[in-house]
Amino acid sequence: MTDDEPDPGVPVFEARGVSRTFRRSGTRGRVLTTALDGVDLTVRPGQRLGIVGESGSGKSTLIRVLDALLPPSSGEVLFRGRRIDNASSRQLGDLRSSVQMVFQDPRSSLDPRMTVGDIITEPLRSPLLRSRPDVPRNHGERLAEVLEQVELEADAAGHYPHEFSGGERQRIAIARAIAPRPDVLIADEAVSALDVSVRAHVLNLFADLVRSDRLTLIFVSHDLAVVRHVCDHVAVMRSGRIVESGPIEQIYASPAREYTRNLLASVPKLRVRTASSRRTATEVPDEMPPGPDDPPA
Ligand SMILES: Nc1ncnc2c1ncn2[C@@H]1O[C@H](COP(=O)(O)OP(=O)(O)OP(=O)(O)O)[C@@H](O)[C@H]1O
Ligand SMILES: [Mg+2]
Repeated sequence: MTDDEPDPGVPVFEARGVSRTFRRSGTRGRVLTTALDGVDLTVRPGQRLGIVGESGSGKSTLIRVLDALLPPSSGEVLFRGRRIDNASSRQLGDLRSSVQMVFQDPRSSLDPRMTVGDIITEPLRSPLLRSRPDVPRNHGERLAEVLEQVELEADAAGHYPHEFSGGERQRIAIARAIAPRPDVLIADEAVSALDVSVRAHVLNLFADLVRSDRLTLIFVSHDLAVVRHVCDHVAVMRSGRIVESGPIEQIYASPAREYTRNLLASVPKLRVRTASSRRTATEVPDEMPPGPDDPPA
């Protein structure tokens, strides 16, 4: 193993007692919100971790702290064994070159002045990534490849983000994140704005990526059926804490917490799509919401 290769025994991410508070001005003066409250988390290489929990439970805050976009108020965050909380941008080089993120709101994460082609290929041109052997060298070819993977037309490359719908913008954000073949992909509600058939396709894309590229995936979603399709582990968040975590089948089969049982109970009854659908059953996650031909009760 060379110095550049990650040690498979070292966790990709570790959070130790991580808390994060926010101060906000309210009608009664400054209000303190505890978004994260003593979170311990270990993400191992190749793991596909789903983070689930009700709205406001701290999911987005947690991944922003892991990606060093937000410093924790207290606790430690390590990336491949090195502290990254309060690290300098030079010390974050390994993190920035290895991890790509799909943000929850693609409207604010895509630069409105850049064409889609430039947005997607920008990470490929980054000096940080240029030295990585697996980063595609032919940018035009890679652009065409990822546009096809997210089911966008090739001519999308010449247009600007505002010319696209919310779901299309989300796919642009996904294409940008996967373009440099990152070691670690963090996706925050990456498929929530997609309609059922495109969501099935993009979920299969995530599933393929984790299989073929030995990707470590952190996949945030409020939708437990979606998480089950792409993840092997799950962490359940509530009020800034991880209240339950473990292998996904175990949590699904016997959730220890009523909160988790309630989250599971709120998943709609799902079924395999039929051959009359646009895609075949084997291409589509077996747990997609019912289609318009068979609406839920
Ligand atoms: N920049 C901020 N300033 C003030 N409060 C914040 C900020 N970011 C998050 N919060 C608060 O922290 C808590 C957790 O927010 P977070 O965005 O992490 O939740 P979430 O689980 O991602 O929710 P959702 O499922 O709705 O995306 C919320 O109460 C939120 O209002
Ligand atoms: Mg969020």
